[in-house]
Amino acid sequence: MSQQNWSDTQRFDNKAADWDANALRAALADDVARATIAHMPVARPANALEFGCGTGLLTTRIAPHCTRLTALDSSAEMLRMLSEKISAGALMNIVPLQVDFSRPKATEELEGGFDFVCSSMTLHHIPDTTSFLRELAGHLVPGAMLSIADLDAEDGLFHDDDTEKVHYGFERQSLKQMLETAGFTNVAFITVHVIEKKNRAGNWASYPVFLVTAIKNHA
Ligand SMILES: C[S@@+](CC[C@H](N)C(=O)[O-])C[C@H]1O[C@@H](n2cnc3c(N)ncnc32)[C@H](O)[C@@H]1O
Repeated sequence: MSQQNWSDTQRFDNKAADWDANALRAALADDVARATIAHMPVARPANALEFGCGTGLLTTRIAPHCTRLTALDSSAEMLRMLSEKISAGALMNIVPLQVDFSRPKATEELEGGFDFVCSSMTLHHIPDTTSFLRELAGHLVPGAMLSIADLDAEDGLFHDDDTEKVHYGFERQSLKQMLETAGFTNVAFITVHVIEKKNRAGNWASYPVFLVTAIKNHA
């Protein structure tokens, strides 16, 4: 998808076992899931996609509201944690899939025909947002709904590790334009959560999280 490689896979593999131990992540997932479900199409999505599912904090909350949910991530260890939850909870409508969106032509490994796509806190890890959104749109049916949660533009101190390559959140207006260019309409934002944490500089700071929703164009 992008020629850049931010090589986050090893980093997330190493974090997978302890990912769910952070209570802030569960609180965020609760709020994102509530808003995601509220914005789902009236009919239960038949063929939903989540990108950057991690250990499944959002996945397991929204799966009961979908007929089938493909949960995609580049980290084998994150997906292993999710697979354990699927087995334990008999969440058999979740289909885990390992794909790295930073690799060129990554979405060729994906089937098409998704009628709903969602994500939480992953877009800022994907290097080329514009190309990614355009290719993502190619896997959606006309009228499909997109629902992505991520950080508003931040001070660059949100992530504890300064070697981690990320976007410093997103300006809403810029992301709206990227979505429209990629073939989406009805773009709307709400604030779904505020992460209060000590940032990399050691100061307490507030990091708002938006949910952007949009519809894949019919044309
Ligand atoms: C901040 S975590 C969020 C995980 C989960 N959505 C949550 O809220 O707990 C970002 C996730 O995106 C995945 N990821 C990062 N870069 C990716 C890429 N290029 N392709 C696919 N997944 C990626 C990581 O492995 C990680 O699981």
